Amino acid sequence: MHKDFEKVLVTKEQISTRITELATAISTDYKDTKPLFVCILKGSIIFYADLIRKMTVPCQLDFIQVSSYGSGTTTGKIKLLKDLDNSIEGRDVIIVEDIVDSGKTLSYLKELLGLRKPNSIKICTLLDKPERREVALEADYCGFVIPNEFVVGYGLDYDENYREFDQIYILKPEVYM
Ligand code: IMP
Ligand code: MG
Repeated sequence: MHKDFEKVLVTKEQISTRITELATAISTDYKDTKPLFVCILKGSIIFYADLIRKMTVPCQLDFIQVSSYGSGTTTGKIKLLKDLDNSIEGRDVIIVEDIVDSGKTLSYLKELLGLRKPNSIKICTLLDKPERREVALEADYCGFVIPNEFVVGYGLDYDENYREFDQIYILKPEVYM
């Protein structure tokens, strides 16, 4: 294991099993529509790529990028770095996120996309840290509820590092203190 990691929090087997369950649930709920999966760059790309490949209904993809200033957890100021390529009017949108922490990123995005007249918007997150919530925000689909620890791997970063690891690890506090 990498020297900066304290321990594995979610193994690749657990991730894979849970993603199949999520994709099955979403495929059932959206069986008569063609959902548009919105990937929030960059943290959710690996989860997103695995999730859509387990879907059993036709899907379409689009990408959006926001930044919260600072390198670790969010400071709450959100900037739109890359917008969607296409209109979402009348579409059934599923926003795919890596982790819900304070809830600010997703409440900003839900409001922004909500103004564009989609038919529906739901949120699918791999991880949820409810203890850290500052604004009311609930995911419609959630992979794992986790304790208040800083995690990396499987797309999640600290200062753009560790995204390439295939499991989710707790980062040693001395790395970000
Ligand atoms: P929120 O706006 O506070 O909900 O923050 C969500 C964003 O903060 C995520 O998309 C991540 O980029 C980042 N973040 C929050 N907690 C963690 C963590 O434990 N590891 C890595 N990134 C995190
Ligand atoms: Mg990040």
